[in-house]
Amino acid sequence: MVDNRVTFGSKLGVILATVGCAVGLGSIWRFPYMLGTNGGAAFLLIYILFMIFLGIPVMVTEFFIGRYSRSNTVGSFKKMAPGTKWCWIGYNGILAAFLILGFYAVVSGWTLEYVWQTVNGSLYSTPGVDFTADFDNFSSNALRPIFWTAVFIGLTHFVIASGVEKGIERASKIMMPLLFLILVVMCIRSVTLPNAEAGLVYLFKPDFSKLTSSVVLSAVGQAFFSLSLGMGCLITYSSYFGKNTNMLATAWQVTIINTFVAVLAGIMIFPAVFSFGIAPSAGAQLVFITLPNVFEQLPFSSLWSLIFYILLAMAALTSTISLHEVVTAYIHEEFHMTRKKAAWLVSVGVFILGVLSSLSFGLLKEFTIGGLIFFDALDYLTAKIMLPLGGMLTCIFVGIRVDKKILKAELTNEGTIKFRLFSIYVFFMKYVSPIAIGIVFLNELGLLSQ
Ligand code: PHE
Repeated sequence: MVDNRVTFGSKLGVILATVGCAVGLGSIWRFPYMLGTNGGAAFLLIYILFMIFLGIPVMVTEFFIGRYSRSNTVGSFKKMAPGTKWCWIGYNGILAAFLILGFYAVVSGWTLEYVWQTVNGSLYSTPGVDFTADFDNFSSNALRPIFWTAVFIGLTHFVIASGVEKGIERASKIMMPLLFLILVVMCIRSVTLPNAEAGLVYLFKPDFSKLTSSVVLSAVGQAFFSLSLGMGCLITYSSYFGKNTNMLATAWQVTIINTFVAVLAGIMIFPAVFSFGIAPSAGAQLVFITLPNVFEQLPFSSLWSLIFYILLAMAALTSTISLHEVVTAYIHEEFHMTRKKAAWLVSVGVFILGVLSSLSFGLLKEFTIGGLIFFDALDYLTAKIMLPLGGMLTCIFVGIRVDKKILKAELTNEGTIKFRLFSIYVFFMKYVSPIAIGIVFLNELGLLSQ
């Protein structure tokens, strides 16, 4: 299929944009607290296994769909299976992107508040201040977090409105290398603290008695969330890949870099947490309460704090861009609206959702869905249900609808790249991934006895 669709300008641009989409709050904020609340190293191990055995095959499959159909998430299923209900996988993805943005933009906004408070000196102004109370006061406030959410959506909007190559690719090329540099510096600081080994043991020495079905479900959810799978982000990005992009190499490179970043985030956080005798299982607030406690006790607190929260904000931005792009590309292409107009619609919609998520820490705290506040309900629904489901159905779709000759031709760029493991990949994509996700689901629903 040929058309004159825009593409990323370079190979490096492809990798960095895709890594930018994957690496985000998921690796630096969500992964450490998931690990901390799910028992440590055993979670890490299961997570890595899921990354390799589920993540890579699903990612390759999404790349195939995107570049082959060169269309947005819904459009690609419509092109490949016209007149069928398969495009619902695409709708699931669009909705998931929108809902994820609804809580992700709020946390992204928090990072800006912490950058701001560090810069103006208020975060560390009173020695021995209670950071938990500080964070609770801030996040439950009616206006401040909403202001920052709006600023963050504004930044995202600006990049999206600047287009694929000038916006997304350029932003990723600047921010991703900086992010790695900061991460490495922070890790060195953390592991050279006194008693840092305890944190490393917690991170790397598995205790299998901690493994329950819910830990496993959390690890699947985290793997999908972290690799941005199952919701069309990668379908949308790969629709901008050029004909020469090596999708197989891109898939494993992105997976390895993303896993590496998550592990580095763990190395940055846990040794510091243990070194200062703080509980590792603080939950979602880990990086906003625990880390300020750590920074306060280091020489040059504000410097560490500043670079850390800037790191977090940049990681978040390259991901909010990708989430925004999924919905914008869909509206732009399917409703023949200009890209700018589509982007506006998405930004306003996301802002409304963001307001609700933000208020669910304060004014709307009593309003719960299945016992979860609005913010947590969005996280649960997307990471644990919509993404794995989307990933499972995507694999089934390619498994039963697509001629394997076409699949192989596209993945090998018409035979110019070797793909020795093709039959193993097909086996995983067709059977292992869908069945594994199905089992995890049934188990969580309590339908399989242990
Ligand atoms: N993978 C991103 C992260 O780790 C989050 C994300 C999920 C982005 C789904 C796009 C799509 O932060």
